[in-house]
Amino acid sequence: MSFHPVEQAPGRLNRSELAVPGSQPQMFEKAAQSDVDVIFLDLEDAVAPDEKEQARKNIIKALNEIDWGTKSMSIRINGLDTHYMYRDVVDVVEQAGERLDLIMIPKVGTAADVYAVDMMVTQIEDAKGYSKRIGFEHIIETALGMQNVSEIAAASKRNESLHFGVADYAASTRARTTIIGGVNPDYSVLTDPDGDGNRATHWGDMWHYALARMVVAARANGLRPIDGPFGDFQDPDGYKAAAYRAAVLGCEGKWAIHPSQIALANEVMSPSEAEITKAKRILEAMAQAEAEGKGAVSLDGRLIDYASIRQAEVLVEKARQIADG
Ligand code: GLV
Ligand code: MG
Repeated sequence: MSFHPVEQAPGRLNRSELAVPGSQPQMFEKAAQSDVDVIFLDLEDAVAPDEKEQARKNIIKALNEIDWGTKSMSIRINGLDTHYMYRDVVDVVEQAGERLDLIMIPKVGTAADVYAVDMMVTQIEDAKGYSKRIGFEHIIETALGMQNVSEIAAASKRNESLHFGVADYAASTRARTTIIGGVNPDYSVLTDPDGDGNRATHWGDMWHYALARMVVAARANGLRPIDGPFGDFQDPDGYKAAAYRAAVLGCEGKWAIHPSQIALANEVMSPSEAEITKAKRILEAMAQAEAEGKGAVSLDGRLIDYASIRQAEVLVEKARQIADG
């Protein structure tokens, strides 16, 4: 390991994160009853300009009055380039800050954006005498944010997670797509012709680089990488495929923009029984190898060594976290 320690953000379960528009209070109770790990009550892009003020009021009331159980509660504030953002922070943190665990900052572009919100939240928390510190979730969804992702990830002690906002990221990079997440037939490779002249088309994942880049910045700073929205809520298979790709890259959660996506995210982002059993067998085999003075052994015909212990511990720790709720 490097001499530089990577401090880990608080270990919060974040397999699924449900987006609920602040302007739709009739959806709040159902969200509170769901199996989701984190809920963000939205003040930003799911709320029309004329509804921003009422949405803020709805959210304050809901945070104070609804029983959200053990769920982590977040609000997505408006961007720092709008005149809504300061009131989002001041009103909600002042009036409902005790039930607020996280603030989600959209379209974050630089470390200074994080600093600005940190300064505001710190003043309000101190003035109100809150003992708990609110954490930050950042949506990496602009070219600027992706360029500065490492500095953003390191910008505050409040930082807990980075989220890939695929829709705005596509808009910002001027990617030629109008869907939210998912794949695009234009992003494909054509194989060379076989003997009969036939060529196969293989679809690619055009979000691979962006997601992988964000995962590295998150993990290098002890934060959770979370995959963002998948717009087609009538396509559970497409959702799961996207979630598995994200999980394989290191993401530990994915957004749900519809309640039906919560179970899918929880399923994909929880290690399976088979994975946990395998991880435990690796730990046992390595413990035995160590007792015999060996650093590497074979298990099921494959080499395992000390790196395998670290991989297996990640899975076993995640299973423990899920079991603890
Ligand atoms: C989320 O905010 C996105 O733009 O995808
Ligand atoms: Mg967005």
